[in-house]
Amino acid sequence: MKKRIALFATAAVVTLACMPAGAQFKDADAAIDYREAAMTLLGSHFGRMAPVAKKEAPYDKDAIKANVAILNTLATLPWAGFGEGTEGGDAKDEIWSDPEGFKQAEDKFHAGMKKLTAAADAGDFDAFRVAFGEVGKSCKSCHDSYREKD
Ligand code: HEC
Repeated sequence: MKKRIALFATAAVVTLACMPAGAQFKDADAAIDYREAAMTLLGSHFGRMAPVAKKEAPYDKDAIKANVAILNTLATLPWAGFGEGTEGGDAKDEIWSDPEGFKQAEDKFHAGMKKLTAAADAGDFDAFRVAFGEVGKSCKSCHDSYREKD
């Protein structure tokens, strides 16, 4: 009996592990809502640093460091919402027909985030401005290729 339960549990774990990423959402609409919500938060926490990068607001290094830490968590979120069979929203079909290109765009963004994090942690304003610009470009270049214009 015990053995059977163990077998069943193993089967359940294997089944879960084999599910496509989209399966963690109720349906495609739920995945689209999720990734758009994640992108909205990303936009909010990224955009609020723009006045600092443009020297229109003072550089408060602790506030920037704390915000970049939040951004790092947010940066991990949207991608799970682009699973198989979740075409729609403002996402272009190229995300699914050219997954490698999309992954490259995502990697560019993560590489920029690494620099932004290093600069924020070091409290280095000049490096922060450069990295902020680089991350911003990575948002834009992905949107240019993979997001429908409004
Ligand atoms: C690798 C690609 C990629 C990167 C990088 C990326 N985005 Fe997006 N973003 C998308 C796609 C695709 C959508 C459309 C999603 C949808 O509507 O289903 C989107 C949508 C959005 C939206 C609109 C959300 C809504 O409510 O419809 C905002 C805001 C946004 N992104 C901000 C950002 C910011 C800011 C960054 C960089 C810090 C960023 N994105 C980086 C692909 C990307």
